[in-house]
Amino acid sequence: MSQIKCIGILTSGGDAPGMNAAIRAVTRAAIYNGFEVKGIYRGYKGLITGEIVPFRTQNVSNIIQQGGTILKTARCQEFKTPEGRKVAYDTLMKEGIDALVVIGGDGTLTGARIFASEFNFPIVGLPGTIDNDLYGTDTTIGYDTALNTIMDAVDKIRDTATSHERLFFIEVMGRDAGFLALNGAIATGSEAAIIPEISTEVDQLEELIKNGFRKSKNSSIVLVAESPITGGAMHLAERVQKEYPQYDVRVTILGHIQRGGSPTAHDRILASRMGAAAIDALIEGQRNVMIGIRNNEIEYVPFNKAIKNDKPIDRELLNTLRKLSI
Ligand code: F6P
Repeated sequence: MSQIKCIGILTSGGDAPGMNAAIRAVTRAAIYNGFEVKGIYRGYKGLITGEIVPFRTQNVSNIIQQGGTILKTARCQEFKTPEGRKVAYDTLMKEGIDALVVIGGDGTLTGARIFASEFNFPIVGLPGTIDNDLYGTDTTIGYDTALNTIMDAVDKIRDTATSHERLFFIEVMGRDAGFLALNGAIATGSEAAIIPEISTEVDQLEELIKNGFRKSKNSSIVLVAESPITGGAMHLAERVQKEYPQYDVRVTILGHIQRGGSPTAHDRILASRMGAAAIDALIEGQRNVMIGIRNNEIEYVPFNKAIKNDKPIDRELLNTLRKLSI
């Protein structure tokens, strides 16, 4: 057993449905194991401004079903500087916090990795992002809920697309990853997904049209992953309108609707398992690891691996989409 007595918890970066379930799980599992818990508000910013409160089991009651994060979140520029991180360290010492659980995406874990190595401070990360772009876990907290939100929205757009016999480009989030677009396309029976992972290999739009896109259909839906690499839905729609004026094209950008809402059962269970595992990891003396779940097994993924390794897209899913969209 380590020297840890008090664990601080924060959420940082883009919020994701299931973050509250994770906060609840970390808090309750920590208290169950005899630790004190402190909630840090507004991500790393809270470590600089000192927005920190003791958390008891009641602080996390009735939140498992809520989207967003009760701890608030921020993208903190100051924490990116050595001076900012020194202030954060001093705050932790003052508050008597001797380990951190941070919940967030790539940027959050990058900050954690730098801070942990600078100050030799124990940190465990939980993958909380709708983008699903962290290596070492099959899915991230929030991804499944966002996928379901996309599915609901696209199903609705399909009604109007069919009635008007239109071609829709629907832009989804994901930063530079195509997981939401590709799996969203499969879940909605969309005709194609345009994703950054293969944008540099082929002109996906050209391929789509060459392959007889919309030959046998009176409407089509293409999910486009937001990214400078794909160019985004607007750009593709403009291209089609110019090169193939016979198509009646429309664009929908789903935007931040994808980040909200009550988490699905999958995300609540994932967050609960990962939150409890974060405390087990600290008790076992693990440091500077992200909790992942692969093939239903908890794994400890060193920050370096989680952040640096590109999580590959499953190429078989692309084939499946092609086969099913004839
Ligand atoms: O990382 C989550 C995410 O929603 C990305 O999919 C998106 O590119 C980005 O955050 C948007 O960030 P913001 O809410 O700061 O505009």
